[in-house]
Amino acid sequence: MRKRVTKAIFPVAGMGTRFLPATKSVPKEIMTLVDRPLIQYAIDEARAAGIKEFIFVTSRGKSALEDYFDHAPELENKLRQDGKEELLETLRSTNMDSGAIAYIRQHKPLGLGHAVWCARRLIGNEPFAVMLPDDVIAAETPCLQQMVEAHAETGGSMVAAMEVPDVKVSSYGVLDLNEDHGSVVSVKGMVEKPPAGTAPSNLAVIGRYILTPQVLRNLNKIKPSAGNELQLTDAIAEEINQGRDVFGYRFRGQRFDCGSKAGFLQATVAFGLARPELRDEFSHYLSEMAALPNAAQ
Ligand code: G1P
Repeated sequence: MRKRVTKAIFPVAGMGTRFLPATKSVPKEIMTLVDRPLIQYAIDEARAAGIKEFIFVTSRGKSALEDYFDHAPELENKLRQDGKEELLETLRSTNMDSGAIAYIRQHKPLGLGHAVWCARRLIGNEPFAVMLPDDVIAAETPCLQQMVEAHAETGGSMVAAMEVPDVKVSSYGVLDLNEDHGSVVSVKGMVEKPPAGTAPSNLAVIGRYILTPQVLRNLNKIKPSAGNELQLTDAIAEEINQGRDVFGYRFRGQRFDCGSKAGFLQATVAFGLARPELRDEFSHYLSEMAALPNAAQ
């Protein structure tokens, strides 16, 4: 039987310069969609997929993230005294069991591959997940759970994948397809941020991965590539060169690129409309806005 995926690495060391000045003092992952920080969406998705151990690769200035997952006794006592059970329950989703969460520092911003490599000693001889919290995915069955189920059939390494427009492919890791079976695609090559006109397909890697521990060893070997950084994509591509299976997984769901301002705003609208307590007022406001195209200028 295949080993279960119970550990996930969350690379959260990025400086979030696209969201300055907000990210001068607030980690990007704490920025909120409606009322939950980006990282909470990732954690909830990981839990739904059966993840039990959460490994954060952080950097200087990210202590707000550690506090976020800690207990807050004063706040909790006050809510208890006031009989605010619902809010207490909301807070519970932010708590982690002792020992279930680990923080590793990435001392230099050398790339996503390097960030994952920093967590290598916490992963044993078992497949593990990597989740990039910038990619928020709204889905009936959470994306990582879909992947865990697919991976139980395929084994190997698996990356979430989605078709993107031609003009965007150079911003992603891109798959070179071998056999296309619909949701599962076998991959014969991967390239990180291919220059315009050179991409092998439009099928882009989205920030959910299930990887074999061999990928961590490959990270020892690879050289910097796109952006002069150590790329996770290259370490996964190395698996293919060594004759091991790599799959793309076309997930069911809507992905928001919350690493960009436009994507973050779109996600705010979508998640706002998805809240029963906000839907009526918010959709009314949006339809009024749509009727007055220049209203916000
Ligand atoms: C990272 C990965 C890239 C992937 C993307 C998905 O890039 O390196 O392969 O397609 O996430 O969001 P980044 O967006 O950090 O530049």
